Amino acid sequence: MARARRIGILTAGGDSPGLNAAIRGIGKAAVDHYGMEVVGFRDGFRGLVEDRSVRLDRKLSGILTVGGTILGTSRDKPHRMLIDGRIIDMTAAVVATYQRHRLDALVCLGGGGTAKNSLRLVRAGLNVITLPKTIDNDLVMTDATFGFATALDIATDAIDRLHSTAHSHHRIIVVEIMGHRAGWLTLGAGIAGGADVILIPEIPYSVESIAEAIGRRVRGGSNFSIVAVAEGARNPEDAATFREAETRKRAAATPEEIAAAVESLAAVESAHAGNTLRLAAQLEALTGLESRVTILGYVQRGGTPSPADRLLATRLGSAGADLIYQGVSGVMVAARGEGSEPVPLEQVAGKRKLVPLDHSWIQAARHVGTCLGD
Ligand code: F6P
Repeated sequence: MARARRIGILTAGGDSPGLNAAIRGIGKAAVDHYGMEVVGFRDGFRGLVEDRSVRLDRKLSGILTVGGTILGTSRDKPHRMLIDGRIIDMTAAVVATYQRHRLDALVCLGGGGTAKNSLRLVRAGLNVITLPKTIDNDLVMTDATFGFATALDIATDAIDRLHSTAHSHHRIIVVEIMGHRAGWLTLGAGIAGGADVILIPEIPYSVESIAEAIGRRVRGGSNFSIVAVAEGARNPEDAATFREAETRKRAAATPEEIAAAVESLAAVESAHAGNTLRLAAQLEALTGLESRVTILGYVQRGGTPSPADRLLATRLGSAGADLIYQGVSGVMVAARGEGSEPVPLEQVAGKRKLVPLDHSWIQAARHVGTCLGD
């Protein structure tokens, strides 16, 4: 591709600390270092479909420490947009907006879903690169994703604070932590905060094993416990039902099969709602210790990014501008050690990085006596 002169930026998926730092990183490098023009699109891919944009060249200062995304975000997919109650493929509208703005490249800041949508746009003929953003740390082929470090700080701080109140009241406190279908955030915060029990989606849990571990603590003189549970953690039966629904969705080929599989996965997800409350009630019944629940929720991804995330987002953003200048397209800018590396979107889209069962964090947790629910 000829030297890029005009680039578009959008943020998609759940918001995450560090998005504005990344917009600033790529934007300033593109404008100040490479002399490009930068256009931002509002509310994820929907802004591209509806052609809602803002010139970013003079809006890049003062946003490094700001949480959320100045561009707004959404979970819309260009090929399956909800418009007037109907699902429509709007890829052609995206291509038209790209051409109308005379863009040479588009940068999409997001997680796994964004990588998938970006790959579709590459196949539709656009030059697209992505930057890895998610508090869940579940993107493959990158050492890190911005947002995770901040969420880890917040969740760890919450566990620290829950300790003193659990201790004072001799209670079990079950704290639910985000992470979608991966356990990175719960495991990381659980270890850093010294949770007594850590439950992650990768290790189906037995309520009886957890109650036994809490009982051992009581007999050892600790009549309180902190249970860190990932939002996606399940018992073996629920985990099997969930796996079946996921497998069915992956195998679905026709539009009818896809619709049915999406519906059945949604039903499994909605049956899972309230799981943390049920777990706390079960633990109270089995241990005789009063139990309370804290659901951290969106607090984990709101507010100012940590220095680690600002640094990561800035260096990946600036590396993204370098790649665009070199004419590279169809890649995610992956963090690799202290540097970065372009990884083909085909290797990222549709994949999820779960915690390997032999990961050092799991080993460390077990070695310090943490119950992992199995
Ligand atoms: O992917 C980030 C994340 O915060 C997950 O941890 C969580 O499961 C999900 O987004 C929540 O999504 P939403 O913002 O659509 O409620």
